[in-house]
Parts: sequence; C-alpha cells; structure tokens
Amino acid sequence: MQRIVILTGAGLSAESGLGTFRDKDGLWTKYDLEDVATPEGFARNPALVHEFYNARRANCLEAMPNPAHLALARLQHAWPDRVTLVTQNVDDLLERAGAASVIHMHGELTRALCGACAHRWAAPAVMAPKDPCPACAAPETRPDIVWFGEFPYHMARIDAALAQADLFVAIGTSGNVYPAAGFVQEASLAGARTLELNLEPSATASMFDAARFGPASKVVPDWVSEVLREGVP
Ligand code: APR
Repeated sequence: MQRIVILTGAGLSAESGLGTFRDKDGLWTKYDLEDVATPEGFARNPALVHEFYNARRANCLEAMPNPAHLALARLQHAWPDRVTLVTQNVDDLLERAGAASVIHMHGELTRALCGACAHRWAAPAVMAPKDPCPACAAPETRPDIVWFGEFPYHMARIDAALAQADLFVAIGTSGNVYPAAGFVQEASLAGARTLELNLEPSATASMFDAARFGPASKVVPDWVSEVLREGVP
C-alpha cells in the first residue's frame, strides 16, 4: 500500500489571501518575528502579540479554502489511511475544505493555550492579555501557536509517518524552518521518493527527486487528479 506524507506551508494558503512569511510582502517584512513569534516577545509585550494573532485570526475567518486545499481533502478522503497531512500553517482552511485529519505542527489560530496549566480550548475571535484560563483562571492565556525556540507539536507521529512513507510531497514551503525543512531528507533516508510542489525552488529544492512549479491552486489539483487516476508515481 503506497503511503503518502504531505507537508504544507504558507504557500498553500497564499491564494486564499493569507500572507506568507518570506515572500516580498510577507509577514516578516511587516513584523519583527522576535516581537510576535517568540516566548520572549510575548513576555515583553503580550498585547502586541495578541493583536498580531487577532488580526491573523480575523483574516483566516474571512478567507476561503482554495482549489489546493480542496484537492488535498479529496485525496485524503479517497485514501483515508494512506495520506498523512502535516501542515506548518496555523489556519483551518484544510479542515474547512473537508480534510478529516490535519497535523498542525506549529499550532492553530483557532486554539488558545493556558501558560499556567496547559489547558487548551477554542480561541475566541479576539484574545487579550490577562484573559483568565477557563480551567484554572490564571491570567496566562496565549494563542496555541508554536513560537520560535519552542518544540513543534506531534513530532513522534510525524516521524513515524515519514519512516513508512513511499512518497513525501512538500507544498508551498520555503524550506527555511526546521524540523519541517528536514522532513525531505528523513523521508529520503527511509526510502521514499520526494516531490516539491511550489511557486519557485525552495531552499531544500536540491534534496527532492522531482518538482513542479506554479501556483498551488493549479499545480496541486493537477497532481492530485493524476495520482487518483494513475496511482502514486
Ligand atoms: N503557490 C505555491 N507556493 C507559493 C505560492 C503559491 N501561490 N505563493 C508563495 N509560495 C511559496 C513561496 O515560493 C515560498 O517557497 O510558499 C513558500 C512560503 O514560504 P514561507 O513564507 O517561508 O512560509 P513557510 O515555508 O510556510 O514558513 C515556515 O516559518 O515563520 C515560520 O512558523 C512559520 O510555519 C511558518 C514557518
């Protein structure tokens, strides 16, 4: 049975209107990631960090899944126990496209986390410093997002899937941030073939067996239709 592990990045949601990070007008050209995507930045100025994620949560609510999200959901529905969807994205567009199981290794905008008791709950549209945790009432609530310097979620599950993959596909990611950027090598070493679907070659492009370039809303549905028609190449 051919198993596929798919890793997605901000490029998957770019055509849904959600910003990427490192493209010319990306989020990291407007904000200093030290201020809004590190535990130190949150400790220094929680109001700024909540403002940053409140704005991204509002954008996400207004955004719609694009044909690439819909195609990946279709693939996972067609082969439910063979397709592992891992995303670095914190939006819920794959779920809203109908994907049944998405592994969010960098957390989710729709979730809140208590810094005191680690309770998680559905994030309100707007979060503010000192919001009390619904479980322990501590005023330590934060977005349930994995910041730089913190450990990504679900790594054991992701490593297990990579160890058994026949095909690893990276979609819409620049290959700049580890451990996600190292998945192609991990999959290769486990014997998987590797494919990059991106707007342009990523930083890890040379590690892939094959690549197709173009906007995700075109390249991903074409690839999914081909795989469903002809099987995993
Ligand atoms: N279709 C396909 N790919 C696209 C599109 C598109 N329409 N638009 C942009 N891309 C590609 C870019 O070429 C780039 O390779 O998406 C990638 C976006 O790269 P980044 O902005 O670096 O986003 P990502 O790789 O997801 O970042 C990884 O870094 O800041 C942290 O935690 C954050 O999860 C994020 C991680």
